[in-house]
Amino acid sequence: MTPGEHQPSSAGLLGAGVIGSGWAARLTLAGVDVRLYDPAPEALETTHAQIERARRAWRRLTTAPLPPEGTLALVGSVEEAVEGAELIQESAPEREPLKRALLAQASRAAPPDAIIATSTSGLLPTRLSADMTGPERLVVGHPFNPVYLLPLVEVCAGSRTAPDTVERAQAIYRAVGMRPLVVRTEIDGFIADRLLEALWREALWLVADDVATVEEIDDAIRFGAGLRWAAMGTFLTYRLAGGRAGMRHFMAQFGPALELPWTRLTDVPELDEQLIEKIVAQSDAQAQGRSIDELIEIRDDCLVAVLVGLKAAGFGAGEEVQRSERRLLDLASARAPVYRDGWLVLHEAVVVPEWIDYNGHMTEFRYLQVLADATDAVLRHVGIDADYIAQRGSYFTAETHLRHLAEGHVGDGLYVASQLLGHDPKRLHLFHEARRTADGTVIATGEHLLLHVDPSTHRVAPAPDDVLRAIDGIADRQRGLARPESAGRRIG
Ligand SMILES: NC(=O)c1ccc[n+]([C@@H]2O[C@H](COP(=O)([O-])OP(=O)(O)OC[C@H]3O[C@@H](n4cnc5c(N)ncnc54)[C@H](O)[C@@H]3O)[C@@H](O)[C@H]2O)c1
Repeated sequence: MTPGEHQPSSAGLLGAGVIGSGWAARLTLAGVDVRLYDPAPEALETTHAQIERARRAWRRLTTAPLPPEGTLALVGSVEEAVEGAELIQESAPEREPLKRALLAQASRAAPPDAIIATSTSGLLPTRLSADMTGPERLVVGHPFNPVYLLPLVEVCAGSRTAPDTVERAQAIYRAVGMRPLVVRTEIDGFIADRLLEALWREALWLVADDVATVEEIDDAIRFGAGLRWAAMGTFLTYRLAGGRAGMRHFMAQFGPALELPWTRLTDVPELDEQLIEKIVAQSDAQAQGRSIDELIEIRDDCLVAVLVGLKAAGFGAGEEVQRSERRLLDLASARAPVYRDGWLVLHEAVVVPEWIDYNGHMTEFRYLQVLADATDAVLRHVGIDADYIAQRGSYFTAETHLRHLAEGHVGDGLYVASQLLGHDPKRLHLFHEARRTADGTVIATGEHLLLHVDPSTHRVAPAPDDVLRAIDGIADRQRGLARPESAGRRIG
């Protein structure tokens, strides 16, 4: 685990609605064991559905192997949920008296050094901790829906929160792939919800005054500013709106608009039955008969697309996706290697819809991707990680021979079995079989010759002894393994 990250051994969750079940999904997928308390009869079903959505989303987000999933248990009391937990995350309804009582109850049963976090969208932690024993353990950990995909978590201390609690909460959130943002001043609504509330209020006015429908308001965001926000936020956006002269010019140009009646933010529209009816009816029409589950699936697919795009750009939340991927790959290479019948198995994948072509099965280049990912896994296993590549060199693939033997269909689990065919100080000769997990069918084989390259000269150079020793280790384990029949084969 990277410094500044701490993977909790277990978590106790209080409340499993939209947010609590999202936490369950994020944590179990990160390998954390979760105990859950929620009096609602449908809590477990909701949570399983949420975990399934999270699996689907993460399979599309990255080909990096996820760790073995943590366990999930629904328990019958607050005390059972929090017992022995390193992280307690409360996600009960947003009502101060209820949260206050629940956090007090949890605090009496929780370990003295547990982090007790509340998902509150905007209630003040000092007030929420009023009846707790050990209130120095309470911190706000305000996530965003869907918790399993969006990295942001606002972390806010109350007046009695220990500074160490804020640090430790951040380390835990980072370890499960999140981006903590410390809200330095304890303020109602924190940062994000104050901004969202401003937009929400103005939107309600526009509907109430019949200026726009809910659909027109959403279009005003999603065809324009919303696309920019994902990468640039508000201030970077306006910096660019000022042209080459930047922020100062922008302020000069648009500052006077602050005097114009462009918003009604200081008033609140009356949320009476009539306005509620109007919004609900317009929202139903906007959904065009799509169910909530269908809309969730569309939202998740679009979020994954945005995150993948931002990852490629290495900007905004894309940096967070890159960091998560690096962590997942490091974790995978730290796990003990698995040998099956002498073959080294380091890479697994699931065929996702994006891999399917017009023939209805896995498209050609995805076969190479699966096999190349397996090569990367072998390289990480012998010590070629990001630091090594930055400072000491890398293996470059010089030659590949690929055979496509069977179809891959959406949902097929695959694993790659690898055999070392040969090596010397400069060369590494690998043979992979991509096999279907369900029945072991080999859907592709790949034979690859790799050369070790010095980063300063970009020329082929011997790998250092520690790497060669690790490769020797594989050769020793595979001594006596029959050479694959198709090894060395050319196009027939
Ligand atoms: N929905 C969002 O977009 C969002 C985003 C960020 C934060 N939050 C915050 O997360 C919290 C939960 O919101 P939600 O949207 O998941 O609400 P929700 O209504 O979907 O879920 C609340 C859950 O708490 C359970 N519950 C009720 N009393 C309980 C108790 N005494 N102990 C344990 N569980 C209990 C309910 O059965 C329900 O399953 C709120 O504080 C909310 O402000 C919500």
